[in-house]
Amino acid sequence: MFITFEGIEGSGKTTQIEILVPVLQAKGYECIATREPGATKIGHKIRAILLDSAHTTMLPVTEFFLYEADRAQHVHEVIKPALAANKVVVSDRFFDATTVYQGHGRGFDLELIQQVHGVVLGGLRPDLTLILDLPVHVGLERAWQRINSQPHGLSENRFENEALAFHETIRQGYLRLAIGEPERFRVIDAFRDQQTIHKDIAEAFEEYVAQRS
Ligand code: TMP
Repeated sequence: MFITFEGIEGSGKTTQIEILVPVLQAKGYECIATREPGATKIGHKIRAILLDSAHTTMLPVTEFFLYEADRAQHVHEVIKPALAANKVVVSDRFFDATTVYQGHGRGFDLELIQQVHGVVLGGLRPDLTLILDLPVHVGLERAWQRINSQPHGLSENRFENEALAFHETIRQGYLRLAIGEPERFRVIDAFRDQQTIHKDIAEAFEEYVAQRS
């Protein structure tokens, strides 16, 4: 089973994955947590290039193909082998992030994005995608707090530096995807305390499992 988490900066995806994975493991699921970009050795280097705030001249096309290169390695090295071994794979972002950030955000051609996804994903799609939704100013405030509290974090803020309007486009882009594919997406109100959010996520998971069996 393949579960992905999406959302704007500071939406709490990483925290919720850290809460969910041990809960699923305690229930007997063999479960791994992974992320994009940066889950493989090659991806780790690509992540550093992508998120470096010094890279102000990066073209949208360069950005797009770097995310896809990272994803190709991720699918091949991590996701497909884990799914083949019947594990539950929980990924902090996946291909929807490219549709929203590079497509809606940067204005990159959505049809071309889909075509490249055809090549990179080879038919792979998440079974369940959880969008953690919250107001953009709240998410960004949290993201900046995190960056400022990490000594090395300052270099990984190329996206946080974008204007509020960019992040609002991202938020709306995710919500639009959810409307278009309601069977795969669940929108979770992430402007609440961690345990309440986790409860909704666990419920969405159980609901999906019940539907599937
Ligand atoms: P994160 O680890 O904080 O989620 O940071 C990853 C950043 O990369 C985040 O700002 C979203 C961005 N991103 C894209 O623009 N396109 C993509 O396809 C992915 C996976 C992430």
